[in-house]
Amino acid sequence: MSISWSDSDPGGRRDPVVFLHAFPLNCAMWEEQVLDLSKSHRTITLDWPGFGKSPISALPANGEGVGSLDGYALCVLDLFNRLGIDRAHVCGLSMGGYVALSLLRLAPQRIRSLILCDTRATADTPEARQARYEMVSMIRQSGEEGIERLASAMIERLLGDSTLTSNRELVSRVLNLMRQSSPVGVERALVAMAGRPDSTNLLPQLGGSSGIDTLIIVGNEDKLTPPSEMKTLAGLIPNSSISVIEKAGHLPNLEQAEVFNRIIREFLP
Ligand code: MLT
Repeated sequence: MSISWSDSDPGGRRDPVVFLHAFPLNCAMWEEQVLDLSKSHRTITLDWPGFGKSPISALPANGEGVGSLDGYALCVLDLFNRLGIDRAHVCGLSMGGYVALSLLRLAPQRIRSLILCDTRATADTPEARQARYEMVSMIRQSGEEGIERLASAMIERLLGDSTLTSNRELVSRVLNLMRQSSPVGVERALVAMAGRPDSTNLLPQLGGSSGIDTLIIVGNEDKLTPPSEMKTLAGLIPNSSISVIEKAGHLPNLEQAEVFNRIIREFLP
């Protein structure tokens, strides 16, 4: 069973841009980017297994990638093969960024350029890993009700204070996106994120002769991956550039969609 995806220009000749979504959301978080970028590029969005419309069975159940973020990267590679895409610009936000780095480890030749938003290359700290396992137990015990608790706990962390105080519509939209996640999808993603390796050693290969240009984007009110951390990340990537978006938290593509779109338009060839 394959993941669910959306392709703005099936079989088309425009440059493909693949958008990888954050946890615990789904591909609908990229609506504004698809609307804008599909005028000039082939935009592809997808749902991680167990999120949005993708069945959990899309996740590799045996063999390579099982139980790790590589399994999610293999879903992306499978989609590339299915759609006849050799190389694509890859834009990943938070968990999407972690998977983009798995993709870089597994198949760098399939990446044309990289946009890393509100994410990190380091592994979880022991405390962060412990918090994820506690979340897994809570979801296992509470099922759908656990998803509601997760959504209530995460909304304050995902959105910047500017959004929380002045954009109730977006707050409701993000809550609804989280509610579309299945308990098993959330559980598997938490375990995979908790076990992800440090990818810092991959960063020096970007830019230069690899030809993979990298753009870093972060909201200035991001509480989960703050600008200081993203600046350190940018400093480790040769020839990368960084844009800090004002009045946005962890989801700048939604909180300041126009600014976000302009920045990626200026970066993409
Ligand atoms: C995300 O937005 O994808 C999550 O905050 C990632 C994480 O929990 O590390």
